[in-house]
Amino acid sequence: MSAQIIDGNALSQRLRAAVAQRATALKARGIQPGLAVILVGNNPASQVYVRNKVKACEDSGLRSVLEKYDADLSEAALLARVAALNQDPSIHGILVQLPLPVHIDAHKVIEAISPAKDVDGFHVASAGALMVGQPGFWPCTPYGCMKMLESIAYELKGKHAVVIGRSNIVGKPMALMLLQKNATVTICHSGTPDLKAMTLQADVIVAAVGKRNVLTADMVKPGAVVIDVGMNRNDEGKLCGDVDFQGVREVAGWITPVPGGVGPMTITMLLVNTLEAAERSAA
Ligand code: GUN
Repeated sequence: MSAQIIDGNALSQRLRAAVAQRATALKARGIQPGLAVILVGNNPASQVYVRNKVKACEDSGLRSVLEKYDADLSEAALLARVAALNQDPSIHGILVQLPLPVHIDAHKVIEAISPAKDVDGFHVASAGALMVGQPGFWPCTPYGCMKMLESIAYELKGKHAVVIGRSNIVGKPMALMLLQKNATVTICHSGTPDLKAMTLQADVIVAAVGKRNVLTADMVKPGAVVIDVGMNRNDEGKLCGDVDFQGVREVAGWITPVPGGVGPMTITMLLVNTLEAAERSAA
């Protein structure tokens, strides 16, 4: 039997419609949610990501301000821009697109963003809030994965979730979110000796490695939920995830496609976080 597809585009549409409604309600109170997006240099992938984020804001009634700088912008100048945006009451979210040029310390820049405007959820205060279960901003990609599980009314309590990948942006926060919903969580990574032995025990698998075919059909328990965070290119140059989709869909109960799965959800959760930041500022 073939797995049911969790459609990230359809879910995004529903969530973005709700964001647009809340944005309209805020505007009626004289507040237009505003996101500042900072792009330094001309990394082609970053340019595409940033364009998509700005367009998504426009489509949902959020104001976005795109600030583009040459690759030789100094760290001090970037920190000064962040400081000014922290003080700007018309800006509720600040996103500095990564990667930054090597002469700029990305960690220092992220820590300069006010946690109240950290809609990427990358600040250590945001990471700490997630860890102890306090209100903050959750990183958009794992947050989107949680929304996808919620969309199929999946009960995580009592289930075993295996996260493949331990990045600060996806793997680690993903594990904490699953734990918060009472799943039993295992984090696997490049040093895990027998990945298949782990994934075969999983009711939920989140693949977030950035490598094709990390998860194949023989590694999946029948009926498991498979969430594919990967964004890779196959030999024909087509977008593909970390999961062997054609094989795994024959074993899994639910699966997210690439494209059309986690990707659109990441931008959607950025809109949700920005709206949330604006609502908190108005409270
Ligand atoms: N670069 C790749 N993904 C992201 C993201 O989600 N946020 C930021 N700021 N930079 C990125």
